[in-house]
Amino acid sequence: MDLFLELSRNPASRSIIESLGLPLPQPAVLRRTRAPLAERIFDDATVVVHAGPQANLLSPVQHTLAAAGARVVYAGPSDGAEGFRAPAEAFSEPFASRNAPLERERIHALVLDASGFSTPEHLTDLYQALVPWLKAIDRSGRIVVLARPNRPGLTPALGATRQAIEGFTRSLAKELGRRGTTVNLLRVAEGAEERAVGPLRFLLSPRSAFITAQPLEVTARVRANKSAPPRSSLFGRRALVTGAAQGIGAATARALAREGAHVIIVDRPEADAEASRLATELKGSVLLVDIAAPGAPARFAEHARGMGGVDIVVHNAGITRDKTLGRMTQDQWDSVLDVNLRAAVRVTEQLLAESLVRDDGRIVLLASVTGLAGNVGQTNYAASKAGLIGYARALAEPLGPRGITVNAIAPGLIETRMTGHMPVAIREAARRLSALNQGGLPEDVAEAITFLSLPSSDGISGSVLRVCGGALVGI
Ligand code: NAI
Repeated sequence: MDLFLELSRNPASRSIIESLGLPLPQPAVLRRTRAPLAERIFDDATVVVHAGPQANLLSPVQHTLAAAGARVVYAGPSDGAEGFRAPAEAFSEPFASRNAPLERERIHALVLDASGFSTPEHLTDLYQALVPWLKAIDRSGRIVVLARPNRPGLTPALGATRQAIEGFTRSLAKELGRRGTTVNLLRVAEGAEERAVGPLRFLLSPRSAFITAQPLEVTARVRANKSAPPRSSLFGRRALVTGAAQGIGAATARALAREGAHVIIVDRPEADAEASRLATELKGSVLLVDIAAPGAPARFAEHARGMGGVDIVVHNAGITRDKTLGRMTQDQWDSVLDVNLRAAVRVTEQLLAESLVRDDGRIVLLASVTGLAGNVGQTNYAASKAGLIGYARALAEPLGPRGITVNAIAPGLIETRMTGHMPVAIREAARRLSALNQGGLPEDVAEAITFLSLPSSDGISGSVLRVCGGALVGI
């Protein structure tokens, strides 16, 4: 349990700590939801849209906001206002155009379209867009900056400008995290504008409560999803989740089932009781297998064949055997690589070889920020998790033409049984060395996996999404 978070929840203890000026962490209580996905995510909350010079991503923003029930305040050049007025009127939502908050006004979110920034001079607009609104942003507020991707081959000045936007976003996230506010960067490639709607909704919603300081890229690399609307439902999809008897895997199984998926709970035979209980609760099925055992890929294939193939594969099962390299046994080294990396690769290859992952499918691999940053005592774990990131990047390419996306998720500290075994001092440091000043919940990772599993995430493939509360380690 996070004692400081519990103290923060209680207004009396919070005000005592504040009045005594004690240097104790006061993490914000993050706003979350476990309700099924809904169209109207804003519930009449105010969302400010700022259009920077030559903004060219306003169309997905217009599509997203009014339909989601937001009161839009447009802050930008007057010729951009019309594009927001019409959808607001169509959905009977109020609309206003101004560059600063009214007295005592509270806003839920701010979307800044920086897609047209082309020279370092334009960066002044970041300052001018944000500063008037900063104090008006609610706790657990959201800031999303939209930009175009930074790629080799751009003019140097353009490369500098686009990279500057990322540095700004990451730093602002660290400044505002104490209030539970998240700040993320959505980079949208040419031709992928429509696909930005799903990711934008997610980043503005309470489902991304533990994702901050992250860039996320939307591209048209993967063949567009052929499935008909609604694009935010998993109804009729079949999802395999490994390590689903407890922790992040169990939360993921629940979230996918909540959106209509049939979930196959995969875990070790020893976890039969928990796995079967969950499968009964979710009306799913169970596959009991040690994923690292030699016959495991064939067992997965047999189960998937019996269902006519699967649509979503979540490789979540993972173990740690921490020791510095010189003290680690080869068995500790190999068991971590076997379960975390080799099993995921072998199972995926078998399912793909037998065409058991259906078109428009989703593959999600549970990596870790340790896979990005490295950590003392975790050479085996970091190698396995970095391997999963490399696998996601490389596999995304050949599966794109079938509409299948492959992504890695890199959680930071998540409060589960696995991290419950960490030494207290290390766990406490990991909680506080982050923008949001706390650990995440299994549900935070589950919501990110669910987001990547949706038809509306067809713009995201080959990515690593950190669900880490803005942890200060790694890239
Ligand atoms: P957990 O230890 O609570 O649950 C892991 C599940 O995997 C258990 O149900 C276990 O029985 C199952 N499992 C382990 N070995 C297996 C095998 N050989 N065959 C079949 N099932 C097996 O772990 P937690 O915390 O829920 O983590 C889930 C994933 O997220 C792991 O891959 C972990 O490395 C990753 N992760 C977790 C973080 C955290 O802070 N909890 C941080 C970063 C990554």
